[in-house]
Amino acid sequence: MQIKIIDNIYWLGVNDRRKALFENIWQLPQGVAYNSYLITDAKTALIDTVDIAAADDYVQRLHEHLQGRTLDYLIINHIEPDHSGMIDTLVRLYPDVKIIGNKLTFKLLENLFGIADNLHEVADGDTLNLGMHTLRFILTPWVHWPETMMTYDADNGLLFSGDVFGSFGTLDGALFDDETDSGFFESEMRRYYSNIVGKYSNMVQKTLTKLHDTPIHIICPTHGLIWRGEPSKPITLYDRWSKYEANRGVVVAFASMYGHTEKIADYLARRMAEQGVRNIRVFDVSKTHLSFLISEIWNYTGLLLGSCAYNGNAHPKMEQLCTELSHIGVKNKHLGIFGSYSWSGGAVKSLSAFAEAASLPPVAQPVEIKGSLTNSRFADCDTLATALAAAILA
Ligand code: FEO
Repeated sequence: MQIKIIDNIYWLGVNDRRKALFENIWQLPQGVAYNSYLITDAKTALIDTVDIAAADDYVQRLHEHLQGRTLDYLIINHIEPDHSGMIDTLVRLYPDVKIIGNKLTFKLLENLFGIADNLHEVADGDTLNLGMHTLRFILTPWVHWPETMMTYDADNGLLFSGDVFGSFGTLDGALFDDETDSGFFESEMRRYYSNIVGKYSNMVQKTLTKLHDTPIHIICPTHGLIWRGEPSKPITLYDRWSKYEANRGVVVAFASMYGHTEKIADYLARRMAEQGVRNIRVFDVSKTHLSFLISEIWNYTGLLLGSCAYNGNAHPKMEQLCTELSHIGVKNKHLGIFGSYSWSGGAVKSLSAFAEAASLPPVAQPVEIKGSLTNSRFADCDTLATALAAAILA
């Protein structure tokens, strides 16, 4: 079966429903697709490949699409192994294939695969004529690897964007945004963005600036839907996320061993709701995977972190969340902190250290409660909830 994007350009991707963790960390409950694209012009060109673990009939399909022709060019927009997994195989099958990439692509190509021959290095703005299609290469370094670039077909306004605008989730019949309700993919795009790309938001902004005057009719990312119905939608979302703009609301993330900290979380959530905060999302960090927590946190303006004490610090699951939030450089949040302990505390100290390191000053004095929440501490909780609600609603 051939799946045509436009004349002479075909989707050659694969769905991966077996892998549990992307990059061996991010959960894949709905799988992931690796999108590869083939152009069959006077010259033939493949844009990115797929993960070797999901290759299955990829080579056979490529062979069938080529209909006896050879592969002239292999364009590497991004060399992370979920897209470069088949390069080695293709170089052996098509020994004359010319590999297109930039200077950094080729350093990584040699390091990862030991390939250093038949290379054609491109710089920003260079073009490659295939016959009817002329491709332009747009270097977009550090989104999210150093070598990342895009390939643009100006005649058709078609952008092969690499990971940018990609999302988790397999392509279940529908490949294009106008063939399905795109809500799931928008949510999974935010999860992909916040988990993997968000740390490099400043480089995303540079990329969007670079693309600003480029007519884009179809976006072909390496993961998730191809956007031809509303290509402006992923661009708008990326612009917001990379500016750290979020929706009004709050994520309440708590770690609790025996329920005391959870009760404080519920109390604070209720108090914020009474003051008009909508979109209050409460999560047990021991139950909800880091991947989804980060995505939700990216989505809302408020963040309320609470933990029981554990070995003189916060609970390990909360420590892990804070570490990852520090790594990805979470910004622009109205932050509140609370904790509980039985004898010597430590959670609030740890959460406060995170807040200071992340330059996220709490909106109010953290609340730390010994034992269970009692009437004597309601007022402190009310002060915290009121301050956070006011910041969110301002
Ligand atoms: Fe889809 Fe950065 O790999």
